[in-house]
Amino acid sequence: MLDELKVKIQDYLNNKIETEMNVPVVLSIETPKDKTKGDIAVPSFQLSKVLHKSPMEIAPTLRTYLEELPYFEKVECVGPYVNAFYDRKKLAKLVLDEAYNGRNNDKVLGTVAIDYSSPNIAKNFSIGHLRSTILGQSLGNIYEYLGYNVIRINHLGDFGTQFGKLIYAYLNWGDEKKVMEDPINELVSLYVKFHEEAEKDPKLDDEARKIFNELEEGNKKYRTLWETFKNASLKEFKRIYDLLGVTFDEYSSEANASRDSKRVLDLLDKKGLLEIDDGATIIRIGDDIPPAIVKRSDGATLYITRDLEEIHRRYEKYHFDKMLYCVGNEQKLYFTQLKRVLSKMDAPFKDAVKHVNFGLILTDGKKMSTRHGNAIKLNDVLNESIRLAKEHIEEKNKDLENKDDIAKAVGVSAIIFNDLKNYHENDYEFNLEDATRFEGQTGPYLQYTSVRIGSILKQAEFDRTNISLDLLIQDNFFEIIKKLDEFDQIIQKSADEYSPNYLAKYLLNLASMFNSFYSKEKCLCEDVLERNTKLYLIYLIKSRLDLGMKLLGMSVVEKM
Ligand code: ARG
Repeated sequence: MLDELKVKIQDYLNNKIETEMNVPVVLSIETPKDKTKGDIAVPSFQLSKVLHKSPMEIAPTLRTYLEELPYFEKVECVGPYVNAFYDRKKLAKLVLDEAYNGRNNDKVLGTVAIDYSSPNIAKNFSIGHLRSTILGQSLGNIYEYLGYNVIRINHLGDFGTQFGKLIYAYLNWGDEKKVMEDPINELVSLYVKFHEEAEKDPKLDDEARKIFNELEEGNKKYRTLWETFKNASLKEFKRIYDLLGVTFDEYSSEANASRDSKRVLDLLDKKGLLEIDDGATIIRIGDDIPPAIVKRSDGATLYITRDLEEIHRRYEKYHFDKMLYCVGNEQKLYFTQLKRVLSKMDAPFKDAVKHVNFGLILTDGKKMSTRHGNAIKLNDVLNESIRLAKEHIEEKNKDLENKDDIAKAVGVSAIIFNDLKNYHENDYEFNLEDATRFEGQTGPYLQYTSVRIGSILKQAEFDRTNISLDLLIQDNFFEIIKKLDEFDQIIQKSADEYSPNYLAKYLLNLASMFNSFYSKEKCLCEDVLERNTKLYLIYLIKSRLDLGMKLLGMSVVEKM
């Protein structure tokens, strides 16, 4: 609200200057660093130049303009500046009412489709897919909060020649029982075995290609196997989604997109964009960037062909205003190519596409991977985090009921927060011990703060209509009011920059503001008016913390 108010005051002043002074000057209001100088400051230099008067002569006129508004307690001229102090009581009341009533979205602002998680079947769900899942989920929540219609899409990597290899390996060396018991690990080792054997006997590659082609042409047996692999993988992925509390509106499929790709290829052809180069079909998209290959010489589609088809399908179905792809930094060039092709096609949604790219998760400075030497499986990471959370709980509150459920909620949220507190485009170093601590910049710290406030509020009722405005305008109270007021603006910024980390940082700030407030102020005091005021204020802090955590995708717990 304070920010909106500033804009409102600025518009009012500029309107006055135009109508009463008749000069083409647009002023911008400043916020003094030194708070004793006022809440806002209006400089008069620009006016002094066009009016050929000294700033000291102009300031008093600006002061009278400001005094006509109902927001100020005091307006004063200090040299060339007009400094104004808000009527804190009025504003405090407004902010509290707004925070209490919550946001009302009376109209839908548009449709945002988000492609996230999007793992590859028959492969391990990687740490990168985890980052995509956490980021996409949170952005979805944030856009929904702001009043957008959000479509959550999980685009499965279920297409490729590797399925020819996998089917070959399964038919020759596979064990159905083993695959059913532990599908992803079994399929991954079959895939590895295929490569070992193909080194010795290159003919296997031809066999695999043949199988893949027949799969594409609809061979029943192969298709059934492929579906079995896909369902088994999905079952494992869904375990992770359940743990994270993630759901999707739609699962899309690269294989389907490939099957339907004739449509987009025809469209590209009609626009005269296709060229044959060495047997392959390509689109030239500028000298600074490699051309997009949309069909290989053997007729197979590529990743980009499938995405081009898929985005057309999505647009037809959802008419999105934004199409976000939460995919790692390593696909930056790829998404530039995709956007260039869409521009060349002059697709109606060409400006709606945004690659929300993100960095790596590192352990000891190296890429954390579920494949290589520092092999950490995602399930292991989550389980370890839950175990550490349980240890902390045992230490702090060993008689707690439902310890396991709470440890799960705390452990998983710790991983989510640890990820989102970092600016998404950057790499970050992963340290599970740090992430699960109950103090410091962690998820458990936020949850713990919310639990603390909850337990204070349980000890006494309060009447929010009977509070002391005199108390609220004191600095240590008013500081919290200003912070509460920032909430919507922070959410907007998180959406505009696709970075929930602004929200994460804000919540840390708010939590530590509460903690220092609480160490100085006795909330359950004798005086009714004072108690009401304090309890109402911390109630609002808790409701912002809880809402913010939910928007990040974390769980809110009542005890821990
Ligand atoms: N499956 C891909 C991968 O794991 C990510 C897909 C992202 N979405 C898309 N529409 N390209 O790298």
